[in-house]
Amino acid sequence: MGNLPKPFLKWVGGKQRLLPHLLKKIPTEFGDYHEPMVGGGALFFELSRRGLIQEAYLSDVNERLIRTYRAIRDDVDKVISLLSHYPNDDSFFKEMRRVAPESLPDSGVAAWFLYLNRTCFNGLYRVNKSNLFNSPFGKYKKPKICNEPLLRSCSKALQKAHLSCAPFESVLEVAKPLDFVYFDPPYVPLSRTSNFTSYTVEGFGFRDHMLLRDVSWELRTEREVHVLLSNSWTDLPLELYRNYKMEKVEARRAVSATNKGRKVVHEALIW
Ligand SMILES: C[S@@+](CC[C@H](N)C(=O)[O-])C[C@H]1O[C@@H](n2cnc3c(N)ncnc32)[C@H](O)[C@@H]1O
Repeated sequence: MGNLPKPFLKWVGGKQRLLPHLLKKIPTEFGDYHEPMVGGGALFFELSRRGLIQEAYLSDVNERLIRTYRAIRDDVDKVISLLSHYPNDDSFFKEMRRVAPESLPDSGVAAWFLYLNRTCFNGLYRVNKSNLFNSPFGKYKKPKICNEPLLRSCSKALQKAHLSCAPFESVLEVAKPLDFVYFDPPYVPLSRTSNFTSYTVEGFGFRDHMLLRDVSWELRTEREVHVLLSNSWTDLPLELYRNYKMEKVEARRAVSATNKGRKVVHEALIW
């Protein structure tokens, strides 16, 4: 099977390490696959690798991210040719960081996104209030800025994907009975100091978690759609999903200020 495709981005909250647990919870048979908070798409790429995707619907509120997916699906040659000329140096990095990529074609947005993702500190996609990228330079010796086999394998997997930039609650009309939806929202923070919600300028708050519970409940109980969610093992999800099945699993948090701060935390799989 090889180990490709797999996510082409490092992504905060990426589910690569949780895959063994997630795979135990996927339905034995399902129709189309939906991932409305796709981020780095770890589960989508793993299901593709296993030949389990017929058609997929992938979306996220991060427009630059979705335009990156679109370019990799539709114009991977151009993305590769742009990226292969980008150097790993501090001044080029700072130049790229000042770019607001909205006016570029999708391939330019993708090259911008991938470059910053590979060369910034920890691959952290973080923007300020003006939506300008503001993670620091990572100072990595040899980051793989252009991983051609990886990008081509992702492009192939994405041929089966419909892509849209939209909030999760507005993309599920197309879900049919026996389809499978995986929701992986920005987690409820473990503590006040760990409230990482800046994937976009908007964040994801209490009301969004309530709305997600309502949307998933309707899919599950009224529309016969298979639903799987993940969240932190904290009071709010335990309360919101008390009528669902739940399992506590161990995960290692990848983002913290220092490597020393990485620790084992508990997460909830909910279905
Ligand atoms: C935990 S990450 C998903 C990680 C992904 N499962 C992976 O393996 O990389 C959460 C994602 O939700 C997206 N998001 C935040 N608010 C959203 C909303 N209201 N609707 C849809 N997506 C949203 C963020 O942009 C982010 O990409």
